Amino acid sequence: MFPSALATMIGLPLLAVGVLSVAVGGAGLVVVPRMMAGLRKWAEWHRGQAARLLGVAVPPTADLRLRLPVRDQWRQLLRGPESRRDLRWMVRHIVPGLLIPLAALALVGLVVNAVLEAPLWWIFPADDPLRLLVAFPVTDWPGAIGLGMAQTVVGAALTWWAVPKLARLHARACLAALAPSEADQLAARVGELTESRSSVLDAHAAELRRIERDLHDGTQARLVAIAMRLAVAREALDDDTGTVATLLKEAHEGTEEAMTELRQVISTMYPPILADRGLAGAVSALAARAGIRVVTDLHDLHPVPAAVETAAYFIVAEAITNATKHSQADRVTVRLASDETLHIEITDDGQGGVDESQGTGIAGIKKRAAALDGTVTIVSPSGGPTSIIAELPCAS
Ligand SMILES: Nc1ncnc2c1ncn2[C@@H]1O[C@H](COP(=O)(O)OP(=O)(O)OP(=O)(O)O)[C@@H](O)[C@H]1O
Ligand SMILES: [Mg+2]
Repeated sequence: MFPSALATMIGLPLLAVGVLSVAVGGAGLVVVPRMMAGLRKWAEWHRGQAARLLGVAVPPTADLRLRLPVRDQWRQLLRGPESRRDLRWMVRHIVPGLLIPLAALALVGLVVNAVLEAPLWWIFPADDPLRLLVAFPVTDWPGAIGLGMAQTVVGAALTWWAVPKLARLHARACLAALAPSEADQLAARVGELTESRSSVLDAHAAELRRIERDLHDGTQARLVAIAMRLAVAREALDDDTGTVATLLKEAHEGTEEAMTELRQVISTMYPPILADRGLAGAVSALAARAGIRVVTDLHDLHPVPAAVETAAYFIVAEAITNATKHSQADRVTVRLASDETLHIEITDDGQGGVDESQGTGIAGIKKRAAALDGTVTIVSPSGGPTSIIAELPCAS
């Protein structure tokens, strides 16, 4: 521990020199990331030792990647909280790393001192005799043996009792200095969740497409075949007034209804126009066939996961329908932009006064957004205008 604290202490001014050489545009640009990578390994080694001593499991911290371009190495250094933690540990390791081994050495020294000095008590001058157990003077052999043994026992007992405690204390301080803070843990968790949501969205999209295809090519195709056979059967029947004819007619109509419903279900699951033309094309088509003037701004719209596309499509469709039905507006603007979030804004210059309790459309918009962990803000004062702003995370 002592040598490691000394080595760490030497590392501090070295690192400072490296950082200073960055300021004057020197080799530090390349050297400092390497020093920090070394420090990471050094700190991780101590962390591993401390964890083993305390019998706890600590997740390893990833090494700094030095194969990246220098700019990315620095980005890695400055962005991640790990480097800050390594530096904090470095400073905190030095003082206890020096003091704790010194305290342990002092205890061991008690024993060594008693064993070596007690037999040599007679060398000491009479007016300044050897003192054992801190204060007791040794002036004869019985005293030397008695006090020497007493100091050996006390020193050994203290060493046995205190050294493991001191080591554990130091190990705990080491783990505490290198442990991620609550904010870091939260940030890491948010990162994990964002990633897992992204994969869930992708899986969901693939599943939606699969079910839509299955229904379209399987169930719907079979219904079409049944409907055709029923039609042929009806035509083949000479008497179209009897019970069989009525039953066939009902079965035929029922099949056609089921097909219509199925088509609706398929189109609400993943509207075919989205598959054909993408979100921008689908929104443009909604705008073109609306019974009101709709201006679209889709310049900043980039591809988003299919589940987000579907939700966005229905949100825009419902908002345009509402504006047409309720707002008396002359013009509706629809703006879609995406980065890590899809921003949707639909504004009409109508009379305002959206009241969620009057129907199911607005509640549906909110539910669709909430299902994707998104938010919806509706601003619609009486007298207008009305804005519906939805933010849907895409988790790229
Ligand atoms: N753009 C708008 N401008 C003015 N009022 C609106 C607008 N959109 C909605 N509203 C009001 O808010 C109410 C709720 O809208 P919502 O879409 O939830 O229901 P709806 O359109 O009436 O029925 P549906 O369930 O078919 O959508 C509407 O009945 C209407 O009074
Ligand atoms: Mg509505």
